Amino acid sequence: MDKLIITGGGPIHGGVRIAGAKNSALPILAGTLLASSRVTIKNVPHLHDITTTMGLLGRMGVELVLNEGMVIEVDPTTIQTYSAPYELVKTMRASILVLGPLVARYGEAEVSLPGGCAIGQRPVNLHLEGLQAMGAEINVENGYIRAKAKRLKGTRLVLDLVTVTGTENLMMAAALADGETIIENAAREPEVVDLANFINAMGGKISGAGTDTLVIEGVEKLNGCEYSVMPDRIETGTYLVAAAMTGGSIMVKDTDPTILDAVLLKLEEAGATIETGDDWISLDMKGKRPKAVNIHTAPYPAFPTDMQAQFAALNCVADGVSTIKETVFENRFMHIHEMQRLGADIQLEGNTAIIRGVERLTGAPVMATDLRASASLVIAGLVAEGDTTIERIYHIDRGYDCIEEKFSSLGATIVRVPE
Ligand code: UD1
Repeated sequence: MDKLIITGGGPIHGGVRIAGAKNSALPILAGTLLASSRVTIKNVPHLHDITTTMGLLGRMGVELVLNEGMVIEVDPTTIQTYSAPYELVKTMRASILVLGPLVARYGEAEVSLPGGCAIGQRPVNLHLEGLQAMGAEINVENGYIRAKAKRLKGTRLVLDLVTVTGTENLMMAAALADGETIIENAAREPEVVDLANFINAMGGKISGAGTDTLVIEGVEKLNGCEYSVMPDRIETGTYLVAAAMTGGSIMVKDTDPTILDAVLLKLEEAGATIETGDDWISLDMKGKRPKAVNIHTAPYPAFPTDMQAQFAALNCVADGVSTIKETVFENRFMHIHEMQRLGADIQLEGNTAIIRGVERLTGAPVMATDLRASASLVIAGLVAEGDTTIERIYHIDRGYDCIEEKFSSLGATIVRVPE
């Protein structure tokens, strides 16, 4: 398995372009299953999770053409089976997103149960309960979810807790259901809005996306369209934090500053000067050491759990003591143990990490444990003296488009060593 070796150095400076959002491209690709004709998706990020999703759709018989510039043409009408096998679902939990579209459009689906994952249990009970309330017959046996429905029926759903992919799965199912579906306590994440816009571009009738109440008027049929995926707010935030913690400056392009409020506020609190335009964000730390900032993760528009590990890295070298409280996932602190190997001073108490900033970290071999944890180790490596070797970097390739090329262009010393 490949490794990344990062040699800690000075501040990073320069410009970086942000790719399309992974967490938007995945549900949109699953959502193409709803269409009755060819769909073209643009600004798709170049990531392993996208390859996995294309493999999953391809395995069902869907025809996909990948054109230059990561434009994917999908012809869902060639579908032959309605099944997502364990081998694919186990590598990418988001495969569960095909469940809603398959039942809604084809009346049946067989999707492997995702099982636990490194950052917590992550059950899918709300996806299943929602589909059942819409009239689907669901059986879970032999590790598979088997769902059937002649035509789903619109209903009022009140989600027990805010779930992003749960909201997306049910919204996609409701798009082709008979009558109106109301989803209360829906996730408000920008990626949910992007998916709603995509479905509406195909002729869907969804309103309220971005609020906690979605109203979906089911339609008989959705037609193909051309749609461009929104920018990745987590990739954006990761580069901004990297610049801030190295005392550098950065111009992040092809992004959307309006969907990063909570993150930008924390960066300003850490001492960064931030300017924004329509599709760019600049950050200048002017060589200063960041100030420690307290973080409390929660569903959007609060601070995103997907940026927690990166801010933990920043706090490791910041001036002061900080607390990081993780409220979305029960076990999302694996990076903490790896950061301790780099010399960080961190104490874990339940779902809270107490971090005492140190003057410097020192390079060491570390292990990538999940997607965002891996990114936090890369940026910690940028400020660690000497070499930081990160193993198991397949996690990074799942979610970060050309990470070493992008950091190298910002002046960092980072190489991939194939094994
Ligand atoms: C999505 C994102 C992920 C992000 C997370 C939270 C994608 C592909 N992934 O993951 O990057 O970290 O949102 O912003 O978009 N839960 C249940 N029952 C359910 C569903 C969820 O108990 O049926 C719980 C989960 O265990 C978790 C919480 O709800 O504690 C939130 O999870 P959820 O929003 O569903 O995360 P994902 O959609 O899997």
